[in-house]
Amino acid sequence: MISIEVRAGPWRHDVIIGSGLLANAGELIKKRLRASRCTIISDAAVAPLFADRISRILTSTGFQPTLITIPSGEKSKTLEQAGAICDQMIAAGLDRQSFVVGLGGGVIGDMSGFVAAIYHRGIPHVQIPTTLLSMVDSSIGGKTGVNTRDGKNLIGAVHHPSLVIDDLNVLETLPRREFNQGLAEIIKHAIIADAKIFDTLQEWKASGAPALQQLIRRNIELKSKIVEKDERDRSGERAILNFGHTVGHAIERAGDYREFLHGEALSLGIVAACTVSIKKAGLSPAQRDAIVDLLRRFDLPTQLPLNFPRQKIFDALPHDKKFKGGRVRFVVTPRIGSAHVSADVTMEDIREAVKQL
Ligand SMILES: NC(=O)c1ccc[n+]([C@@H]2O[C@H](COP(=O)([O-])OP(=O)(O)OC[C@H]3O[C@@H](n4cnc5c(N)ncnc54)[C@H](O)[C@@H]3O)[C@@H](O)[C@H]2O)c1
Repeated sequence: MISIEVRAGPWRHDVIIGSGLLANAGELIKKRLRASRCTIISDAAVAPLFADRISRILTSTGFQPTLITIPSGEKSKTLEQAGAICDQMIAAGLDRQSFVVGLGGGVIGDMSGFVAAIYHRGIPHVQIPTTLLSMVDSSIGGKTGVNTRDGKNLIGAVHHPSLVIDDLNVLETLPRREFNQGLAEIIKHAIIADAKIFDTLQEWKASGAPALQQLIRRNIELKSKIVEKDERDRSGERAILNFGHTVGHAIERAGDYREFLHGEALSLGIVAACTVSIKKAGLSPAQRDAIVDLLRRFDLPTQLPLNFPRQKIFDALPHDKKFKGGRVRFVVTPRIGSAHVSADVTMEDIREAVKQL
């Protein structure tokens, strides 16, 4: 079991990583939170796998949990769904002393965190991520939120969890495609800030829990260091985490959140960002090829299907939050292990890169 302290502004919380941690979830929470009532928010695929167990463990530790289950997938990340959850929490008698446990992937983490941020103006949030993506990325940094008709994560709050419990055993039921999309975020981390992770992944063999535990730890440390420097996403340092996301989000939206998983759309966005980076940041074509090879190694898409309507991607681009007042803040990489925000990228550069996908 590894424990990492994550810092963000004055906020501190632990992330515990290990195998079989669900059994200790009650004790781990009890050390940090005194409340009795809580709600477990989960989705329709994850709840049948783990919710009963968590519920029993929490009850035996003295908590009074209520389970709220929502449909799986991105389509659930709406303001309406957040309102419906709050209504159920009120009906279950949760008050300002209560807390929320998010049990699921990034959709549940973003939603349960958002509900925790707004319920009684903010109650504690414990995350039990069940996807690789949510362990290495969405559970760290405090960003919570929901989507609107006009784009992803447009409504939200920064609300850091009180505790994150990463039990590697829960990944055993995760479909391979879902596991691989988590690797897209890990590859992104490697490109923007850690060439050593990139090397590790190039030699990666599905070598069991210890290697995975170390990979998750390094990614959490990397993301939390970036967040620590720029918690509110103001100075531009945190913005490098958006590498690949400008085009990635547009592709996700163009595919109506069905055609590509988040990490798959990100993989395509990374390839487009590399094309822009060759032109605007001096990335070498050899490094771009190494990045493409690595994405392919984990069965991540690096080309759009021939019949995919590219116009829909162009239409989706200006909706992205990163287009401030018509100006593009695009993250580029000059070499693997480094990234910065460029003000020198035009919409035409981005369109050209999308055309090449
Ligand atoms: N807050 C942030 O900083 C941040 C960062 C990155 C991504 N995100 C968000 O995260 C979301 C994507 O997260 P995700 O990839 O984890 O998707 P997800 O939460 O939709 O989970 C993927 C699928 O796997 C299923 N699943 C989850 N755990 C499982 C398990 N252990 N066994 C079997 N099935 C399981 C889920 O039911 C779902 O169908 C997006 O909404 C994205 O915007 C947020």
